[in-house]
Amino acid sequence: MQIKPVQPRQAGLSELALRTEEPPITWLMSAVLDRPKLISLAVGFTDSATLPVEEAADLLKRLLKNKSRSRAALQYGSTRGLPELRQLTADRVSSLDQLSQPIPSDNVVITTGSQQLLYLLTEALCDPGDIVLVEDPTYFVYLGILQSRGVHARAVRMRPDGIDLEHLEQVLRELRDAGELPRLKLFYMVSYFQNPTGRSTGFQKKLAALDLLRSVERAAGHAIYLLEDAAYRELGFAKTSDRSALAAKRNERVFYTGTYSKPFATGVRVGFGILPEPVLGAVLRIKGNHDFGSSSLLSWLLAEAIHEGVYERHLACLRVRYQRKARLMERAMKEHFPAGKAMWEPPQGGLYFWVQLPKTVRTGARSKLFKSAVANDVLYVPGEFCYAEDRARSKPKHELRISFGAASESDIRLGVARLGKALEKG
Ligand SMILES: Cc1ncc(COP(=O)(O)O)c(C=O)c1O
Repeated sequence: MQIKPVQPRQAGLSELALRTEEPPITWLMSAVLDRPKLISLAVGFTDSATLPVEEAADLLKRLLKNKSRSRAALQYGSTRGLPELRQLTADRVSSLDQLSQPIPSDNVVITTGSQQLLYLLTEALCDPGDIVLVEDPTYFVYLGILQSRGVHARAVRMRPDGIDLEHLEQVLRELRDAGELPRLKLFYMVSYFQNPTGRSTGFQKKLAALDLLRSVERAAGHAIYLLEDAAYRELGFAKTSDRSALAAKRNERVFYTGTYSKPFATGVRVGFGILPEPVLGAVLRIKGNHDFGSSSLLSWLLAEAIHEGVYERHLACLRVRYQRKARLMERAMKEHFPAGKAMWEPPQGGLYFWVQLPKTVRTGARSKLFKSAVANDVLYVPGEFCYAEDRARSKPKHELRISFGAASESDIRLGVARLGKALEKG
């Protein structure tokens, strides 16, 4: 039986549904399914070969053999999340941040990936027409959340060592002069091995950003927050000791989001946030309406993995593996990309290379280069996806993101060679 669609305007869809554009991630993921020979250097998936299959099977078996835990694991949990995992998370982040006073586990919320928390936080803070500062470029899926919710983005430039503080100051001044500060709610920052550039913003810069945001609060008439997305924090090739904004003396304006997806298993999709009141309460009330709690079973799996040391051991393997794959990708880029045409900064962690081409070379989904790359069976993320709509500048269109996360070593070599061919033509 065929179900005949109606025109969206006649379907009674909400303003939000009508406004929401197709996220590029959906399209990028389906492109892979449509062309089985295609090598995707686009998606930020983790390395399938390293997924902790046996470890997870073993942990789950032991968990489900334990009478009381197995019942709890197969039952609904609470909106805030599994207390054991909240405590382990609070301890873990406190130790990464070398905090003398540990983070209270009551400030931790467990979510269905950190993606859910990014959505919840934006929903809790922003009404249509509000403004969020983002890095330029930034994590493109977050831009989708802003677009969908009718929130405007203002872009803050990046330098090789993270955000450009002078530009942040300038953007805040412009917002003040335009009388727009009352609509400014937060600054979203991917602070470690950023997606897409691989750059990190250090502790001192985070402190300076917090000061700048605080300095305009009076004019805004409300709090302005730093949303620190630390998704790649644990994926530094060397262990990083750089602290998060939670370690600031005045950290009451800091939202910290983290994930166990990338460092453990993306399919498990457990994320978390460390939030101050009263935003935490608002997020919990909204999460209560979304799903009244993330999966107990997966939260227990993570709690056991951390408690038993499985998580830490897995992470140590991943760091070595990703470093090797990053080096391999760079060697392939040097070999196959036309000399002098492509520039990049070798990442020290995370999953990505951000490649800059001459300004005359377009990389967008309709560009000659993109079509030629797909015809050569290789996929990248067009850089323009990662730039917010910002009236203050036009979007750069000559960059692309490739990832060494999901592809095997041989696919990295082959994929980069194919991209090199497309670049020679482009
Ligand atoms: C910067 C950043 N934040 C958050 C996420 C969401 O990850 P998850 O929902 O799996 O925790 C991703 C995923 O790619 C990401 O790159």
